[in-house]
Amino acid sequence: MKKLLFVNGCIRGEQSRTLRLARRVVSRIPDAEIEVLSLPDLHLTPYDAEAIAQRDALSASKAYDAPFFALANQFKEADAVVIACPYWDLTVPSMVRAYLERLCVVGLTFHYNEQGRSVGDCNPQRLLYVTTRGGYVDDNDPALTDHASAYLRSLCAMLGVDRFDCLAAEGLDVVGNDVAAILAQSEAEADQVAARFWA
Ligand SMILES: Cc1cc2nc3c(=O)[nH]c(=O)nc-3n(C[C@H](O)[C@H](O)[C@H](O)COP(=O)(O)O)c2cc1C
Repeated sequence: MKKLLFVNGCIRGEQSRTLRLARRVVSRIPDAEIEVLSLPDLHLTPYDAEAIAQRDALSASKAYDAPFFALANQFKEADAVVIACPYWDLTVPSMVRAYLERLCVVGLTFHYNEQGRSVGDCNPQRLLYVTTRGGYVDDNDPALTDHASAYLRSLCAMLGVDRFDCLAAEGLDVVGNDVAAILAQSEAEADQVAARFWA
């Protein structure tokens, strides 16, 4: 069995279309021992000066087993990660950003080589970003670029996660769109993604 970390960043809980899509894909991934991390329950705050000082002190003494680094260690040890969150203000919600901050620990999840370039030290072979959007993204238009995928893809490269993919349903808040049909199509896509998840 592979260790699959399901990071639930769906702020609207059971009302969330993103959570519905994410559950669909996660529940159909074969051979997976699923660990669910519910971000709304963690009430993470952005790093402040005190937290950064604590992080630096723990890193300096190489105390990477400290509870402070629990989220980073959990991520580092997974075989794959699914992160689900709605598309907010052109990127991930700040709740998710606060989580991602906890993953970036020099000496634990990545390090710098002699050329000053980052080298990832995490185990996950892939990260799947599941999202829904009210409108549409268009990477050919700077105003509509999918900043969330661009950021998460770069983060994966930094942490050593080889593969990044996005599963999205979009146009869900556009008046006149058939939301049920869009979600049904995304769920069919989710089934295909899940079936060859470990390939
Ligand atoms: C605070 C906020 C910001 C949003 N920003 C965007 C946006 O930048 N682009 C977009 O297409 N939709 C945006 N939306 C719409 C959501 O992406 C859309 O309704 C999504 O399906 C919500 O997911 P959920 O049902 O999982 O909560 C925003 C919604 C909220 C509440």
